[in-house]
Amino acid sequence: MTQDEMKFDVAQAALKYVVKNTIIGVGTGSTANFFIDALATMKDDIIGAVASSVATAERLESHGIKVFDLNEVESISVYIDGADESDDGLNLIKGGGGALTREKIVAAVADSFVCIADESKLVGVMGEFPLPVEVIPMAANYVKRIIEKDIGGQAILRDFTTDNGNHILDIQGLKITDAKALETKLDGIVGVVTNGLFANRGANVLLLGTPNGVKVVSA
Ligand code: A5P
Repeated sequence: MTQDEMKFDVAQAALKYVVKNTIIGVGTGSTANFFIDALATMKDDIIGAVASSVATAERLESHGIKVFDLNEVESISVYIDGADESDDGLNLIKGGGGALTREKIVAAVADSFVCIADESKLVGVMGEFPLPVEVIPMAANYVKRIIEKDIGGQAILRDFTTDNGNHILDIQGLKITDAKALETKLDGIVGVVTNGLFANRGANVLLLGTPNGVKVVSA
């Protein structure tokens, strides 16, 4: 079974978590794209969606799914998105696609977070995937120096501009054993907009695509 087939399967499995007659949150990335395509089959069952990126909004709209600005909505029933890594406590690294800040905002509003991923994303200790940190452009070099001095690893500036007009540092070489503490510490650096650790608000459920079917992991 290919990685794409596993992503397809978890996207289908996620439909069960869509709460009818509500507004849901939709993530960004290749797995989220499979989910958006699956969601199109039940688009008349939901009021609409809040998107975590411009790309996701465009894909939702291409299927005729109504996209709401987050400021227009009072609540989001469920947020469905992929991840770059997860540990078995359902702490996540996200932001490989650069949408981490909007993803984290939509996840914060949602009543629950269903993460969808193929089995390669579940790891023992997170950090092999470089941890993204969105920074205000003028602070990039300052934040890089502070990270390398106080946290460790190597912070590499990505050649990328986020939907928010900011830049991303990818921290390589971390072994993340206390994701909540690291998330909080990174957020405390002046110039950091947000970081790709989703631990203080991790996933509630992880749907993991495997060659033997979709495995459900709960925190
Ligand atoms: C986007 O910024 C990311 O957080 C994605 O959710 C994450 O990179 C997973 O992407 P894939 O589903 O493409 O692996």
